[in-house]
Amino acid sequence: MNILVTGGAGYIGSHTCVELLNAGYDIVVADNLCNSNIKAVEAIKRLTGKDFKFYRYDLLSRDDMEKVFAENEIDAVIHFAGLKAVGESTQIPLTYYHNNITGTLILMQLMEKYNVNNIVFSSSATVYGMPETVPITEDFPLSTTNPYGSTKLMIEQIMTDVQKAAPKLSVTLLRYFNPIGAHKSGELGEDPKGIPNNLLPYVAQVAVGKLEKIHVFGNDYPTPDGTGVRDYIHVVDLALGHLKAIEHCSEKPGVHIYNLGTGNGYSVLQIIEAFSKACGKELPYQIDPRRPGDIAECYADASKAKNELGWTAERGIEEMCEDSWRWQSAHPNGFDD
Ligand code: NAD
Ligand code: UFG
Repeated sequence: MNILVTGGAGYIGSHTCVELLNAGYDIVVADNLCNSNIKAVEAIKRLTGKDFKFYRYDLLSRDDMEKVFAENEIDAVIHFAGLKAVGESTQIPLTYYHNNITGTLILMQLMEKYNVNNIVFSSSATVYGMPETVPITEDFPLSTTNPYGSTKLMIEQIMTDVQKAAPKLSVTLLRYFNPIGAHKSGELGEDPKGIPNNLLPYVAQVAVGKLEKIHVFGNDYPTPDGTGVRDYIHVVDLALGHLKAIEHCSEKPGVHIYNLGTGNGYSVLQIIEAFSKACGKELPYQIDPRRPGDIAECYADASKAKNELGWTAERGIEEMCEDSWRWQSAHPNGFDD
């Protein structure tokens, strides 16, 4: 099976490419490298000992993307490409809507033209908005609180509408919780540009001495220690979830929706403690006010993916922090080292 991976040079995409190649799939990667590095592509090839075609193309360029479909016989698409920073999306919403939505429309038009009937899409737990209870099941009400989240929800809706009109199409919407960690080799990991927005890369950069201390956004939430609780999932477990989705949902027409999380919630302070253990030193932090828009608790009920796909996340929080530290300590400046 030949799989087009859009955004395959990015954090989750690159780890998924490794697992796809190791499992014997053929891949073609399209990524404009707007938030990633060609060295990630080289690392995928090195780690797997396999070669594949890489197109440094923008999804917004229909002519370029058409070449990818014309030159390769694509059986399925895994669609990671997109802009993903929540804060930035409130500053430049048009850029987010154009990149994420128009890019997806062009991709799906080309799939239709070239008769490609399987797509797996990177959605997010952000489509649950401010959930009233946890754990979150796939049938919870959907809403969003920022333009980034709205692009995810709109794309889910677009794909669902397209599937209704094209009954042969298999659409799988994977709603990720909080991916962290890195490949065991320490050669592939998260490499955010500038100051990280997310907790784990921030903690890792404090650990490596690039940032002074962690800012904990609020300790007055209704959680056991007052700090925000999230469902952190090892990026390799998440990658393996995509393989299960391809295996079980391809050629099965319809819209298939799965949460990909562990089902366990960890607080900010628990994460700092786990990472301190992994890197062998106490990490400094200070308590700051809450970050606007944050919710107290968010974790998955992942039983649908378990029952239907036979997938469960196997790697625990210690392993997530150890793997993340191995990558960060070997590459303090990410792929630029
Ligand atoms: P990432 O930024 O590392 O990867 C996205 C990749 O897409 C990058 O390599 C970027 O260069 C590429 N890209 C963006 N726009 C493009 C375009 N127009 N044409 C071609 N390439 C383009 O992000 P990630 O963390 O690997 O996330 C992958 C997907 O998963 C994204 O769609 C993201 O919204 C979604 N997601 C991520 C998280 C998370 O916490 N990391 C959570 C839920 C969902
Ligand atoms: N946090 C801090 N300090 C930081 C960064 C984060 O205390 O420097 C806290 C947050 O307040 C939150 C927790 O750490 O309680 C996790 O925050 P992240 O920014 O790492 O992750 P979020 O859950 O806020 O959001 C992430 C992605 C979203 C996605 C969501 C669900 O950024 O795009 O997970 O998948 F929608």
